[in-house]
Amino acid sequence: MFDRQKKGDRAVLVLPHSRGEGDAVRRGEEFAELVASAGAEVLTSIPARVAEPNPRFYIGSGKADEVAEAVRALEADLVLVDHVLTPVQERNLEKHLKTRVVDRAGLILDIFAQRARSHEGKLEVELAQLKHLATRLVRGWTHLDAQRGGAIGNRGPGETQLETDRRLLAERVKMLTKRLEKVQVQRDQQRRSRLRNTVPRVALVGYTNAGKSTLFNALTTGGVYAADQLFATLDPTVRKVEGLACGPAVVADTVGFIRELPHDLVAAFRATLAEARDADLLLHVSDAADEERELLRRVVNSVLEEIGAGDVPQLMVMNKIDLIEDAEPRIDRGDDGKPRTVWLSAHSGQGLDGLREALGELLGGDRIKAGVRLPLTAGRLHARLKAAGAIAGEAIDEDGWQLDIDAPRSVLAPLVGDDIHGAPLRELIDPPHAEH
Ligand code: GTP
Repeated sequence: MFDRQKKGDRAVLVLPHSRGEGDAVRRGEEFAELVASAGAEVLTSIPARVAEPNPRFYIGSGKADEVAEAVRALEADLVLVDHVLTPVQERNLEKHLKTRVVDRAGLILDIFAQRARSHEGKLEVELAQLKHLATRLVRGWTHLDAQRGGAIGNRGPGETQLETDRRLLAERVKMLTKRLEKVQVQRDQQRRSRLRNTVPRVALVGYTNAGKSTLFNALTTGGVYAADQLFATLDPTVRKVEGLACGPAVVADTVGFIRELPHDLVAAFRATLAEARDADLLLHVSDAADEERELLRRVVNSVLEEIGAGDVPQLMVMNKIDLIEDAEPRIDRGDDGKPRTVWLSAHSGQGLDGLREALGELLGGDRIKAGVRLPLTAGRLHARLKAAGAIAGEAIDEDGWQLDIDAPRSVLAPLVGDDIHGAPLRELIDPPHAEH
């Protein structure tokens, strides 16, 4: 009922620009790609120079006439404007063009709706869509508020269709908000159990179409749905990866990033992108064959900053090397010898071994594996280690425990802390001969 854009739409694109025509051409191609991924057919693109936005249509009224003429001649049923419009501008344009108008925010919402895969993501998208729609319904009809007088007893059969719509919409928004809160509580519980389990957590991020999902599938082929393990809920985007030198890890696929994501939309997807914020490592997937990859990398990084994931360590993945002549899979390393960039093709599988190798190194590098003896009086420390999942094996005799410790340094350090029995572990975590 709220789905405003169906597949197979015949669309006229309007491309507002303030600078020269060259800029409009570049942006136009990009917008056309977004439109195509939303499933609409592009009939024509009309550049519109906007020096001073027209409050009525955003574009000038002469330009609006030109668009109206194109809509009529080409029998378009949708106009897509590559800019964020106010609800009033959108409605004025719809009246003037006699067809549906969707702005950049609406289009991006539509793409997110198609791409969101997790339960939580889908709820978030629907919520953002309804809120977007609500401003368009409600604001257009504020004059009705005055007529309505006292609201009590005024609802029900006597109300207009629009009031009904508005009330249903508000109810659905309330219901979705509640559901989302519930999912978020579940996710917090998952996060706590994850901390207890000490399995390293990797999140795939990248510009839309970089190949995240393809890589996700390639990396986790035969992998168990993590729902059976740590993540008990409906989120199919989290899976376990086996066969890494560091032991198993958990990988999450996230929704694709898009240039000029309107600000309130970023806020709406915060929870989905929390996957990225909570990760031990981000796999930043980039389309190596895309000439603009540097620019897109910066876009992704700035969104990551915005959602508070700017400080999470990254491994760059240059994907799609099968499209580049003479490109070979390889690992580029930094001055510290650690992997920085892995070149591969998720499609052909070339270079996947390199990625596994790099992941094993980066995730396992800070892992402590050692045998440790604890006296029987260290029961409290033993219990804490056990709860953190840091004990891989143990034996007990009259002198105490013989433990096989296997856990990341970052998990062990706070547990061992100032515990009087922690000395042998503290030496492992921070060896006296280590260079600082
Ligand atoms: P979003 O869901 O929009 O975020 O995209 P994504 O990053 O998950 O990309 P996806 O895996 O859907 O891949 C996008 C397109 O790139 C698909 O058509 C893939 O088949 C293609 N693709 C992915 N990896 C490769 C690759 O290594 N080589 C080639 N040639 N194509 C690839």
